[in-house]
Amino acid sequence: MISIGANIGLPGPVDLSSLPDEQTALVIRNLNLHYGNTQALFDINMRIPKGKVTAFIGPSGCGKSTLLRCINRMNDLVDGCRVDGEISLHGTNVYDEDVDVPSLRRRVGMVFQRPNPFPKSIYENVIYGLRLQGVKNVRTLDDAVERSLRSAALWDEVKDRLHENAFGLSGGQQQRLVIARAIAIEPEVLLLDEPTSALDPISTLTIEELINDLKRKYTVVIVTHNMQQAARVSDQTAFINLGKLVEYADTDTLFTTPKNKQTEDYITGRYG
Ligand SMILES: Nc1ncnc2c1ncn2[C@@H]1O[C@H](COP(=O)(O)OP(=O)(O)OP(=O)(O)O)[C@@H](O)[C@H]1O
Ligand SMILES: [Mg+2]
Repeated sequence: MISIGANIGLPGPVDLSSLPDEQTALVIRNLNLHYGNTQALFDINMRIPKGKVTAFIGPSGCGKSTLLRCINRMNDLVDGCRVDGEISLHGTNVYDEDVDVPSLRRRVGMVFQRPNPFPKSIYENVIYGLRLQGVKNVRTLDDAVERSLRSAALWDEVKDRLHENAFGLSGGQQQRLVIARAIAIEPEVLLLDEPTSALDPISTLTIEELINDLKRKYTVVIVTHNMQQAARVSDQTAFINLGKLVEYADTDTLFTTPKNKQTEDYITGRYG
């Protein structure tokens, strides 16, 4: 059984197809992606609302991570990968030739499945992006560290050991540190690719609560294998299968009254 309830109290369902521009963070239009001769994404069209959590679910290999990586052009790093179509981030097509990819990645932060802190202190991990931007003022850096660690629900646990190596933290703490590092530079969108799949249930719960808080400030897109997690944390859910967007709706609707037979089979566990 999928337990729904995390979304109680939110405004009612959003009509995703006619979402007004001012409530939209990302518009994906006619997106096709090939790895060499193999097509991995087929004509994806969707509008991702601002200040909400959107989940991508679907079977292994269906293209969830591929679609997520399109948003901050991480697929540019893959040899032979070709993307056609458009992703508009608050009105800018991220695939325009004149887009500066490092600046795009400052606007769109990303957190991966396995926590990947740098072999540096907790403090230096958090301000890594700010140092790259040339920020030197100690007060500004100190403030950013406290603010980001508080937002990532980690401050109380680490405030007395900021200058110790990040590798001394538990897996769940490391993942919250990586989230703090991502939000220290105040991105507009945060992409999370299965952020809790390497974590124990308690750390998973902490991160899920954190995701719920983050959407006050950021647009969050999360890939998850875990349908209960999608039901708990997301406002909208997209079901992807074999590289196609099969169904996209507000989370309660998708899990309670899916329109598509494939979605229904997947969420009820009948899918192979
Ligand atoms: N770098 C790559 N080069 C070639 N093919 C790739 C590459 N990355 C992914 N693919 C292929 O693209 C398809 C989609 O993969 P993707 O990693 O996006 O799936 P996924 O839905 O995230 O799966 P999982 O749930 O297992 O993480 C798969 O067939 C995969 O083999
Ligand atoms: Mg994946």
